[in-house]
Amino acid sequence: MSVYHLLRSIWPGKPKWFADHLPDLSSKVILVTGGNTGIGREIIKRLLMKNAKVYMAARSQQKAERAIQELREETGKEALFLHLDLGDLNSVKKAAEEFKQRESQLDVLYLCAGVMIPPREQLTAQGYDATFGTNVIGHYLLLRLLYPMLSASGTPSDPSRLVWLGSVGHYGPRRLAYETYVDGPARKKIDLFDMYGQSKLANVMLSIYFANKEAQEGKVISIATDPGNIKSDIFRGDVPWYMRIWEALVLYPVEYGALTPLYAGGAPEAAAYNGKYMEPWARIGKPSPVALNVQEQERLRDWLDEQVKTYL
Ligand SMILES: NC(=O)c1ccc[n+]([C@@H]2O[C@H](COP(=O)([O-])OP(=O)(O)OC[C@H]3O[C@@H](n4cnc5c(N)ncnc54)[C@H](OP(=O)(O)O)[C@@H]3O)[C@@H](O)[C@H]2O)c1
Repeated sequence: MSVYHLLRSIWPGKPKWFADHLPDLSSKVILVTGGNTGIGREIIKRLLMKNAKVYMAARSQQKAERAIQELREETGKEALFLHLDLGDLNSVKKAAEEFKQRESQLDVLYLCAGVMIPPREQLTAQGYDATFGTNVIGHYLLLRLLYPMLSASGTPSDPSRLVWLGSVGHYGPRRLAYETYVDGPARKKIDLFDMYGQSKLANVMLSIYFANKEAQEGKVISIATDPGNIKSDIFRGDVPWYMRIWEALVLYPVEYGALTPLYAGGAPEAAAYNGKYMEPWARIGKPSPVALNVQEQERLRDWLDEQVKTYL
């Protein structure tokens, strides 16, 4: 990551767009992964305030129920719980099936959940690195399973929206290091923040790939967003000292972190932003050149298709 990107992420200027600029979302069904805390919770709060029907897809029923109760007190509206553990592909499949039983429409899908620098020994249920497995592989399977519904719910004049959570960390890696995504000697050596950067690079690559290759007939748009440097639970756990310095430089509350994803998922003018990378606060930015490489996007798609094929 360059000093330029670092400084821009620390001082992104003042927001010009605010969550209350969202239109009424009464007819919309929206699913947010990882919405029980942090940026996702704030996204759900704002969507509820605009009358959307919102699913909180979370791995802990207890945490989700507490968040839903608090949101009810804050907004007078009720989010709906959907059990989803992105670290277990069986759970992802079950969540998608349950959602399809409960709903016939999906207007916006926020791929928001994420982990950063969990303990190195932590793997997903299928043995993938916990960061890449959660942030990328679990989300990819969920998307593959729900994409037909997302596509069927959109029209060229009112497309469905797919919103990805990138990060300034995606500028770091020069390539995707596939050899580190499963356990083995390469994974044991990798810097854990680099692994997080890899996962966010993959999220941005997939956003651009879906925008250009999968979103046929303009029925779905796909937008990658950097929410900004936000105080949240993402810094939980035993993060290295340099991340504590980074955390100290992180000045912005979750209300700010929700702005760019909310704009991408709900602002009428963002319907024209298919394939864009948005940075704080709700401005068009430039993704890493690595994310724009079409061959690498397709390689990632092929690799992911191979990993999830038995769950489709
Ligand atoms: N905060 C920042 O500065 C920043 C900057 C750039 C990008 N982002 C991105 O923004 C997104 C939201 O992060 P945040 O800052 O709001 O962090 P957060 O407060 O830690 O929230 C992360 C959410 O993801 C959920 N999650 C983690 N693992 C999961 C799993 N296996 N299955 C289902 N849900 C899972 C967490 O659930 P539990 O509570 O159960 O763990 C939590 O709800 C992430 O994608 C992150 O990479 C954040």
